Amino acid sequence: MTNKQINHNRDPHYRQAKKEGYRARSAYKLVDIQTRYNIFKRAFYILDLGCAPGSWLQVTKKIVEKNLNKYNDQYYHRDHYKILGIDIKKVSPIENVKVLKMDFTNPEIHNELESYFQTKIDLILSDAAINKSGIKFSDHLRQVNLCFKILELTKAHLKFKGTLILKSFYGSDFNKLVKKIKSEFRIVKTFKPRSSKKRSNEIYLIGFQKK
Ligand SMILES: C[S@@+](CC[C@H](N)C(=O)[O-])C[C@H]1O[C@@H](n2cnc3c(N)ncnc32)[C@H](O)[C@@H]1O
Repeated sequence: MTNKQINHNRDPHYRQAKKEGYRARSAYKLVDIQTRYNIFKRAFYILDLGCAPGSWLQVTKKIVEKNLNKYNDQYYHRDHYKILGIDIKKVSPIENVKVLKMDFTNPEIHNELESYFQTKIDLILSDAAINKSGIKFSDHLRQVNLCFKILELTKAHLKFKGTLILKSFYGSDFNKLVKKIKSEFRIVKTFKPRSSKKRSNEIYLIGFQKK
């Protein structure tokens, strides 16, 4: 058995993901975020940036299908959902979920989003991450740079009062990023899911109520 396999077998989230049919252990990061903040409440048009291999898409679909009935009242609701995942990597299909294989920093993304959703999006999820080089400082800066690009997309396509989940890494420019998000959302939270590995410096930023 390789070291990687031994580490996987010791990891309860990895084992749980296998058992529950999720494609990656990162599914539980989104589950943790949902448990803490109920981000999917009345969110039916959802974009998942950096979605490969697809475990956040699996979690999203499961919750949204439940919520179609749960929030079917006089307040904002829809009788259908639209989930779009985007990644440079290929993602195996998931029924009723659209996946695009492309770089979401490509300007063509705007046409793609408009033609699929035909309106603004309720919730944008981003677990997108740069390819780490191992040099913490430059990895942090590249990740923050990616986050700023995602904020541009959010500005154009997330609806008024919509919600954003954004993965970042701690580091020198983290506060600059938080400040930018605070200028665009009424409420901003930082969250380290229980299922996020302790040695990882990843942190999720949650923007509620886009201005
Ligand atoms: C940690 S993985 C996402 C895991 C996913 N949330 C899941 O649970 O299956 C990060 C992904 O971001 C993607 N990514 C990073 N930058 C991207 C970009 N500019 N355009 C599209 N995908 C990108 C990577 O290809 C990678 O698959």
